[in-house]
Amino acid sequence: MGFKKGFLWGGACAANQFEGAWDLDGKGDSVPDHCKGGVFNKQKVITVDIDPRQLYPSHEAIDFYHHYKEDIALFAEMGFNVFRTSINWCRIFPTGLETEPNEAGLRFYDAIFDECLRHGIEPLVTLSHYETPYALVRRFNGWLGHELIACYEKLCHVLFERYKDKVRYWLTFNEINCSTLGFGAMFGTSILRGFEGSRDKLEVSPNDRLQALHHQLVASARVVRYAHERYPQFKMGCMTVFLQTYAATCDPADELKNQHNMRQHVWYTSDVQVRGCYPSYAKRLWAQSDVHLKMEPGDEEVLREGTVDFFGLSYYMTNLVGTHDDLEEVGGSNVAGGGRNPYLAASEWGWQIDPDGLRFSLNEIYDRYQIPLMVVENGLGAQDVVEDDGSVHDTYRIDYLRRHVTAMREAVADGVDLMGYTWWGPLDLVSNGTGEMRKRYGFIFVDKHDDGTGTLARSRKDSFYYYQRVIASNGEDLGD
Ligand code: BG6
Repeated sequence: MGFKKGFLWGGACAANQFEGAWDLDGKGDSVPDHCKGGVFNKQKVITVDIDPRQLYPSHEAIDFYHHYKEDIALFAEMGFNVFRTSINWCRIFPTGLETEPNEAGLRFYDAIFDECLRHGIEPLVTLSHYETPYALVRRFNGWLGHELIACYEKLCHVLFERYKDKVRYWLTFNEINCSTLGFGAMFGTSILRGFEGSRDKLEVSPNDRLQALHHQLVASARVVRYAHERYPQFKMGCMTVFLQTYAATCDPADELKNQHNMRQHVWYTSDVQVRGCYPSYAKRLWAQSDVHLKMEPGDEEVLREGTVDFFGLSYYMTNLVGTHDDLEEVGGSNVAGGGRNPYLAASEWGWQIDPDGLRFSLNEIYDRYQIPLMVVENGLGAQDVVEDDGSVHDTYRIDYLRRHVTAMREAVADGVDLMGYTWWGPLDLVSNGTGEMRKRYGFIFVDKHDDGTGTLARSRKDSFYYYQRVIASNGEDLGD
């Protein structure tokens, strides 16, 4: 009834949040390189030009670029057999427009994958984790431009061929469904030509967001089909931010609103990526939001032929949805906010902690699609206290981990085919939503702070040893 033999245990990071070295060895600037941040629970602010006098957290981040050997050795010490990271598009094609890839960028990822494999760690690669080259924003207004499909395909073809003997598991777009929500316009679709300011001030019409998303869905399907034709050993996955919501009351109107919300913001993209066509409810949804999608000849065919092999999800919290005025709003600094659930506690950032919701979600997804699932992000952002002797007693993180692994184990016992689990941010890194360092997810403490200071030294928190124990027992020894 437990986790299967060979279950993948590890951690997940994104290039822009931990590599640093933002302009080294020929790298171009991506959207996150234009983002300032580091203010408690305040969304990142984007600037058109990069002001060298200002602090941009991604520029140094935690400098994995120069610490990767030490970091991967620590992952191995915890017992990882998988490590999820993204390839920063701008290391390979600095503006996205070049015809030849940047060899120095390719060599860097060769070194990362070789180091992982040397330690028995299988790489899991995200092909696009919010790292659209900023030059493509200037030129095409991000993914609103149909041209980005070809730019992305060019990137993927190079990566597949280069790493075909080192990487088996791929995710096409991180949290692709985030672009059904307002915040996705900045990170997911990058429709921000000329825009300066806080992410919540960016206004993009539903038509533009869903058009850009259509381009991403086509791009995803094109590279999945291409990979299936040429690299039969590859396992291609989608990645959905699983924003599970519940109806706020048993009022049927709340149930209907919640169902609509789940379709509009969660199932919309995976229904396409797993089943190969837009779902039956899409037409009404487009009509309600005045969306008129432009489809090219052949789009429907490629969507049909480019379906994924497994379903990747990020899962952090749940929220309530309802029709009644007394529903109190919570959270929202990165992913989506929603209604407060009186049965759940929340993190310091207002993210409502709900392990049972993970079991519920895994069952819902598996019932719907019947393909293997993988939790490729889950974690707790919290402020840690470093004791005089350098230790960090992060019992709250251990508790979060224990309860979510227990929930996954229950889901497996329910019959869900679960492939693996990668904790978000196994070492502290820059927050995606706010650019903060103080919002720490790591089992490994990194001495880096919101004001950019710190030695970058790494040290083990209590949770490091806990996760090591969980992995060594294949999720059996949870200390409960
Ligand atoms: C996910 C993203 O939405 O949540 C990650 O894929 C991100 O990039 C993670 O870091 C946690 O969010 P935050 O804002 O706390 O960093």
